[in-house]
Amino acid sequence: MALDLVIKNADIQTASDRFTADIGVKDEVIVEIGRDLDAAGAKVIDATGMRVVPGGIDVHTHLDMPFMGALTADDFKTGTEGAAAGGTTCLVDFAIQAPGESLQTGVDNWHKKADGKSVIDYGFHLIITDLPESRVPEMDAIVEQGIPSFKLFMAYKGALMSEDDAIFRAMRQSAKNGGMVSLHCENGHTVELMVKEALENGNTSPEWHALTRPLACEAEATNRGIALAEMAGSPLYVVHLTAEEALDAVRRAKRKGLPVIAETCPQYLYLSHEDYQREGFEGAKFVMSPPLRPKGNERALWSGLNDGTISTVATDHCSFCFELRDGSKMGKVLGKDDFSKIPNGAPGIENRMQLMWDAVEKGKITPSKFVELTATNPAKIFGLYGKKGTIAIGFDADITIIDPSTKYTISAKTHHMNVDYNPYEGREVECTIKEVFMRGHHMVENGKLSSKLPKGQFIKRAKYGKTLDSKTLEPALV
Ligand code: URP
Ligand code: ZN
Ligand code: ZN
Repeated sequence: MALDLVIKNADIQTASDRFTADIGVKDEVIVEIGRDLDAAGAKVIDATGMRVVPGGIDVHTHLDMPFMGALTADDFKTGTEGAAAGGTTCLVDFAIQAPGESLQTGVDNWHKKADGKSVIDYGFHLIITDLPESRVPEMDAIVEQGIPSFKLFMAYKGALMSEDDAIFRAMRQSAKNGGMVSLHCENGHTVELMVKEALENGNTSPEWHALTRPLACEAEATNRGIALAEMAGSPLYVVHLTAEEALDAVRRAKRKGLPVIAETCPQYLYLSHEDYQREGFEGAKFVMSPPLRPKGNERALWSGLNDGTISTVATDHCSFCFELRDGSKMGKVLGKDDFSKIPNGAPGIENRMQLMWDAVEKGKITPSKFVELTATNPAKIFGLYGKKGTIAIGFDADITIIDPSTKYTISAKTHHMNVDYNPYEGREVECTIKEVFMRGHHMVENGKLSSKLPKGQFIKRAKYGKTLDSKTLEPALV
């Protein structure tokens, strides 16, 4: 068979194995893995000295999202270009059902935002903000459209937040229709109260964002979310887990055999509460929810990654500009005099793979754990496996080639995201993203984003449990 692309001498890392071989690609798919593949007529990349891993899958992004009176700086074009430059070849973004709107309208709106703009393949979760009993059956049709995951918020009172009854309804329906609920776990009621008191006392600086959302605020909601899922008999995916106490709750749930899955994000591994204490209004760059935690808390998260309590690392990429852009106040500056008005969220879609491979180089995680967290587990949990999530025959040719012998300094001056700062500014990582292929299309060539990028496709994802171990419903190594 005449191949389109051959990656020669690839030091291939999957979630379970490391071996050296050539990878042969035809019609966007990996069709051969072996020694001395015939490359006649094919594009040839020599990967000698590099590490070859599955393209990253980021299952938590917010592109083109209106939030807190602002709009994210990255849409599906700039956000996915940043993702590709950083070795991520597939993402699952959060569509939003606005209050009063049907679930379908939320999904339709997100298709319009992504279609023709995304340069990598993508799927959607659906954020539900308004779920009276009468709307519950609408969830089934969304699952059937290949969108089998929903997110509900226990925080952001008066905006995205759902009360326990709506969360419970969504969970019970998911238990029946093969969907899965993910939860943002923070107690929105206590946040509202503590924010009000802080402002009344004249505390307006960005650091108060964190002081009004303590560790226990997340732990309480995580415990409550797990209990609701247990009562509903449904799986639960805890997004952006940060707090050691919340991690303990997930650990207990897993010990009981409950299908509870947790995600964390690089910002909670690499940044800390001290970033809120930076000069002037700089701390606003780090205003996200849950907030960054005191130094030391991250040690528990690294342990959770290594012992399997945390299954995925996603970015929660939600980029708001820091400065004014085009005279518009669409960014962090909205909260200059009141921390509660700072749009919550930070960029990171471009940096996740580098930051996590840096952890490999520094001995914090193994190379196989890296693949598990950034590609294989996200694919299995969110119904992409079989097509995406590993390097194997029959899978899409989504391949990232990492050069571990060169260092890279993260900076807003060189990143591809459409946002005017980078929370990791100046941080040096011990690797560069050298080549990236998405369905065999060459997206990053010798470290540079290609000028000819492909069109990403919407991926209909399988229902929950289809690519998980049938007994434990954990992402099993295959
Ligand atoms: O601060 C954050 N995380 N913003 C994005 C919305 C969310 O909570 O995921
Ligand atoms: Zn959230
Ligand atoms: Zn989020």
